[in-house]
Amino acid sequence: MSVGEEISSLASPKVLEVAPYVPGAQINEAGWVKLNTNESPYPASPMVIDAAQAELDRVALYPDPPARRLRERIAKHWGLSAEQVIAGNGSDDVLNLLIRVFSDADRTVGAMEPSYSLYPVLAACNGSNWKSVPFEQPFRLPVDQIVAGGFNLFFLTCPHAPSGVVFPRAEIEELAERFQGILVVDEAYGDFAGESVISLLKRFPRLVVTRTFSKSFGLAGLRIGYGVSSPEVIGLLDRIRDSYNLDRVAQAAGIAALDDWGYYEATIGKTCYVRDFYRNEFENLGWDVYPSQANFLFVRPQNNEGEFGPEVAESLFKHLKENRVLVRYFASHALTRDFLRISIGDEDQMLVLWDTITRWLSNE
Ligand SMILES: Cc1ncc(COP(=O)(O)O)c(C=O)c1O
Repeated sequence: MSVGEEISSLASPKVLEVAPYVPGAQINEAGWVKLNTNESPYPASPMVIDAAQAELDRVALYPDPPARRLRERIAKHWGLSAEQVIAGNGSDDVLNLLIRVFSDADRTVGAMEPSYSLYPVLAACNGSNWKSVPFEQPFRLPVDQIVAGGFNLFFLTCPHAPSGVVFPRAEIEELAERFQGILVVDEAYGDFAGESVISLLKRFPRLVVTRTFSKSFGLAGLRIGYGVSSPEVIGLLDRIRDSYNLDRVAQAAGIAALDDWGYYEATIGKTCYVRDFYRNEFENLGWDVYPSQANFLFVRPQNNEGEFGPEVAESLFKHLKENRVLVRYFASHALTRDFLRISIGDEDQMLVLWDTITRWLSNE
């Protein structure tokens, strides 16, 4: 037996079965236009940087375990009570807590397929029964199928990833009314849509909304996310939360970010403006583009012979990469393999993208 085999034989079989999540590439070299993981192209607000730096003087001490002040600040932002908020090491942490509390081998968890591919990985890590729901029509919500699916826990990504579309509020409301389990609306991209279902929490104690500071707040590197729900749901998540799941710097930065909401309204506004401008440009090229309300566009490229399909999408993906422009290509699903997902960068980054696409179109 090799050392690898011997050690594997000691591991829990559920771990050996996990196909690990594959995050988008993180390239730290200069000279790349990075449009692959939906980060903000704008720096965090100066108030956030000051708050984070001030906190560095106190790192010898553990952070506040429940991140109480951050929870209160998030609650104030949404007109909720602090008991309705849990903070996490990124919203991924909150998604993981939800999986661990509300799913197992007998309690099925699911999501639409395709959507955020971390959900089934977290389910596998927990040994949970996983079931996905296919889209019958591209990115239209099949409310009846979700209701009838026997789910204890269901993740609805809205704005949806990778399409960027927002499901009609009335349909989410209908789902919240009819669904018998815990319904999680993952609003990681919610600030770019300018709408949220958080106001529905008053009526639906089994509804959970998750949000993140990674996208609209330009703080992906600090890992701050949160979930809001009824105090009963939050209380259960808190039972198994790591005591110090948010470090001091992250807690201080999150509070400062919400205190400087005006700065972020401006950067979010710029991103939405650039997104809508380029959506129009892609449509002018004759490409299909979903009406994204997130900080990315999901586009179906056509080559200069009017062809589209997986080979065309992959050819553009490779051409962009060769020219140091990184976007995301999801080859594994029929609804995604003709498309590229392009994060919205700042105007300079988008000009480089556009110029590189133009050169691909002219076969240069
Ligand atoms: C739909 C969705 N949910 C959640 C996340 C995780 O965000 P965070 O950085 O807060 O863990 C992402 C990140 O890409 C995402 O796309």
